[in-house]
Amino acid sequence: MNAKILDGKQLAQTMREEMKQEIADFQKQHNLTPGLAVVLVGEDPASASYVSGKRKACAHVGIYSREENHPASMSEDDLLKLVEELNQDPKIHGILVQLPLPDHIDEKKVLYAIDPAKDVDGFHPFNVGQMMIGEDTFLPCTPHGIQQMLMRNGIETASKHVVIVGRSNLVGRPLANIMLQKNTNANATVTVCHSRTKDIGHYTRQADIVVAAIGRPNTITADMVSDGAVVIDVGVTRVDDATKKNGYRLSGDVDFEAVSQKASAITPVPGGVGPLTITMLLHNTIKAARKSIQ
Ligand SMILES: NC(=O)c1ccc[n+]([C@@H]2O[C@H](COP(=O)([O-])OP(=O)(O)OC[C@H]3O[C@@H](n4cnc5c(N)ncnc54)[C@H](OP(=O)(O)O)[C@@H]3O)[C@@H](O)[C@H]2O)c1
Repeated sequence: MNAKILDGKQLAQTMREEMKQEIADFQKQHNLTPGLAVVLVGEDPASASYVSGKRKACAHVGIYSREENHPASMSEDDLLKLVEELNQDPKIHGILVQLPLPDHIDEKKVLYAIDPAKDVDGFHPFNVGQMMIGEDTFLPCTPHGIQQMLMRNGIETASKHVVIVGRSNLVGRPLANIMLQKNTNANATVTVCHSRTKDIGHYTRQADIVVAAIGRPNTITADMVSDGAVVIDVGVTRVDDATKKNGYRLSGDVDFEAVSQKASAITPVPGGVGPLTITMLLHNTIKAARKSIQ
C-alpha cells in the first residue's frame, strides 16, 4: 500500500484563509480585532523562529500581535508582572509564553499566572480540567491540530483504536483526552504508551490510528504498524546532515519510507502536524476574543 500523504501545510493554508474571513466578519460585527501577545525570554534560536512564525501567521489572518522579547536575565518577578499587565490589557485576548523558560524561572508559576480566559495554549490547569470533563475550552494546539487533520481528511475516529506513543502534558495526554471525549471527531478507544511500556509494537500493531509523540527519530518502524493504519508523526528532531546548508534536517519519530508502504495515510515531517499547531493557536485567539464579548 502506498499511503496518502496528509499534507499539513496545505490544510493549514486552507484553514487560515477561512480564519481571515471569520476575523474580517468579526471585526465588522463587533469593532474588535483579536489580539495575541507572545512572550519570549532569552535568545534560543529555535524559540525565536517559532515566535517569528506566530507573528507572521497572525499578520496573515488579521490578528493583532504584540511581541514581548526579553533577555534571558529577566527576573521571574518581572515576567509575572508582565503577564499580569497582559491579563489586564483589553487589546490582548490570548497570551502565549514561549517555552522553555530560563532555569531561574518557574515555568508552572508563570503559566498558572495567565488568566485562564486568555490561556490560548490550553496549559492552565483550569482549562486542562475543562477539557477533561468535555467542556468547551481552549484545547492545546498540537493535539487539537491532530484532531483537525484527521477530521478534515475524512478519517473517522469513532469506534477506532487510537494508540498514542508519548504521555507529555503538551501532546500525548491531552490528545488521549480529546480522543476519549463522547463527541463527534472523538469517541475512540485510546491506548497510551510511554518509555516504560513493554513491547510498544504489541499495542501499535492493534491500532487503527498510531500517533507518535516521542522525540526520537525512527522509533516507529514498519513491523510496528498494521496494514492500512493511519500514522500521525508529531516528532520533530534536528538530525545532523552535512548535505544540508544549515547542517541539519528535521526528522520525525516514524520510519517514513518503510511505514508509508504499509499505512493508508501518513503525515510527513516537516509539513505534517507542525503547521497545524500554529493554526490552532490562531483559532484559540479568535475564540478568546469571542469569549471576551460574551
Ligand atoms: N509538530 C509540532 O507542532 C510539535 C509540537 C509539540 C511537540 N513536537 C515534537 O513532538 C515530540 C514529542 O514532544 P513532547 O513535548 O511530547 O516530548 P516529551 O515531553 O519529551 O515527551 C516524550 C514522551 O515520549 C516518551 N518516550 C520517550 N522515549 C520513548 C521510547 N523509546 N519509547 C516510548 N516512549 C518514549 C516519554 O515517556 P516518559 O513519559 O516515560 O518519559 C514521553 O512521554 C518532540 O519531537 C517534539 O519536538 C512537535
